Amino acid sequence: MKPFYILLCLFHLVIIPVESETEAQALLKWKESIVHANSISSWSLANSSDPCKWSGVTCSPTGYVVQIELHNTSINGTFENFDFFSLPNLTKLDLSNNLLHGTIPSTISMLTNLKFLNLGCNKLDGIIPPEIGSISELLDLRLNNNSFTGPIPFQLSWLQKVQYFDLSANHLNNTDYSQFSVMSSLSHLSLHHNKLRSPFPFIILQFANLSYLDISENHLTGPIPYSLAQNLPYLEYLNLSYNNFDREIPASFKSFSRLRELRLGSNNLTGGIPSILGSISRLRLLELFNNSLGGPLPSFFGQLKMLEHINLEGDGLNFELENSFQSESM
Ligand SMILES: *[C@@H]1O[C@H](CO)[C@@H](O)[C@H](O)[C@H]1NC(C)=O
Ligand SMILES: *[C@@H]1O[C@H](CO)[C@@H](O)[C@H](O)[C@H]1NC(C)=O
Ligand SMILES: *[C@@H]1O[C@H](CO)[C@@H](O)[C@H](O)[C@H]1NC(C)=O
Ligand SMILES: *[C@@H]1O[C@H](CO)[C@@H](O)[C@H](O)[C@H]1NC(C)=O
Ligand SMILES: *[C@@H]1O[C@H](CO)[C@@H](O)[C@H](O)[C@H]1NC(C)=O
Ligand SMILES: *[C@@H]1O[C@H](CO)[C@@H](O)[C@H](O)[C@H]1NC(C)=O
Ligand SMILES: *[C@@H]1O[C@H](CO)[C@@H](O)[C@H](O)[C@H]1NC(C)=O
Ligand SMILES: *[C@@H]1O[C@H](CO)[C@@H](O)[C@H](O)[C@H]1NC(C)=O
Ligand SMILES: *[C@@H]1O[C@H](CO)[C@@H](O)[C@H](O)[C@H]1NC(C)=O
Ligand SMILES: *[C@@H]1O[C@H](CO)[C@@H](O)[C@H](O)[C@H]1NC(C)=O
Repeated sequence: MKPFYILLCLFHLVIIPVESETEAQALLKWKESIVHANSISSWSLANSSDPCKWSGVTCSPTGYVVQIELHNTSINGTFENFDFFSLPNLTKLDLSNNLLHGTIPSTISMLTNLKFLNLGCNKLDGIIPPEIGSISELLDLRLNNNSFTGPIPFQLSWLQKVQYFDLSANHLNNTDYSQFSVMSSLSHLSLHHNKLRSPFPFIILQFANLSYLDISENHLTGPIPYSLAQNLPYLEYLNLSYNNFDREIPASFKSFSRLRELRLGSNNLTGGIPSILGSISRLRLLELFNNSLGGPLPSFFGQLKMLEHINLEGDGLNFELENSFQSESM
């Protein structure tokens, strides 16, 4: 009985730490390359040989590292020494709001169990590795506010489970949408503030589950697709501002039954302010400023019971109205 008990203890002492030792070594190797590592000073074998006890690290009940969350912790470094191979059980990696720079290595695709990847608000550059498109469990991908260049890799559209997709505030350009797959789970799509230069990307019309679409602050041209409202019936937020869309506001917009914010400011839209906008009954915010709409000031505003903010400035009408009970700054 006794020798068996000792053997059992040894088994626990030796076997269980093996994986966590590999994981601990991987994390320490990365920590050594970080310039200001104050926020991860608990990452030390002197503190604990079990990385599950280190700050920002969460483990599964079986002792594997499953989450690393170091949002806004002043971490300054690169991914050069980040050993993606040694953290196979990671489901969440949140390193947003830090000072990470350099590129994302293509080996990030070794994180095959990853569901949440947030590297937003850093100083990362280079291209977005197409290999991210093979992390098939991803639900949430945020790479916004970095300095990524080149196209949006079409391989990212292979992420069939992804619901939240934010690549905004980068320098992305020159994307070939013809190679994209339909992303049918997508509900939030942010591509604003990039250098996208094309007509309206028609593939977006097939992302039927979208409730939030922001492609503002790009160089998009041509008409707003007539079928937008029919194809994206769940849309609640639409921002096409600061592009070069022209022609009229599609009459089909009257079937936007859930739309609460319609931001079309600073484009080249013409053809008057259509009275059908009065049928978007949930509309809370309407911005059409800085277009060439012209025509008479429509009389539908009384129909829009939820309307809090409207801006038609610079449309040959010079008119702004705020709901005096509940006003909004935008
Ligand atoms: C060890 O890690 C724990 C958990 O993060 C932390 O609370 C503690 O301050 C650390 N101790 C030292 C000496 O770093
Ligand atoms: C980041 O942390 C600092 C304090 O360390 C705080 O002042 C700042 O508001 C935080 N920023 C964000 C975006 O959370
Ligand atoms: C981040 O580290 C680099 C050196 O790797 C240094 O040049 C840069 O100034 C650091 N940034 C900040 C904000 O401390
Ligand atoms: C963690 O990863 C290892 C190696 O890939 C695998 O054998 C194990 O089943 C995984 N455990 C969990 C809880 O996902
Ligand atoms: C992200 O970028 C947008 C657009 O440039 C900017 O308005 C916003 O302040 C940025 N956010 C952060 C947290 O840096
Ligand atoms: C896209 O951006 C890359 C990197 O900044 C640049 O080399 C390339 O010329 C750009 N392409 C177009 C069509 O603007
Ligand atoms: C559609 O998006 C919602 C979130 O807005 C999500 O809960 C739902 O699962 C999505 N539907 C599909 C079919 O992916
Ligand atoms: C959407 O459009 C407005 C113009 O009304 C712009 O100021 C705003 O920053 C845009 N994007 C986001 C993410 O709010
Ligand atoms: C706006 O559209 C008109 C044609 O309707 C065109 O002549 C003009 O160049 C466009 N303006 C801009 C800034 O694209
Ligand atoms: C309106 O558009 C012009 C150029 O198209 C731009 O210079 C100006 O800043 C815009 N005004 C507003 C309020 O966005």
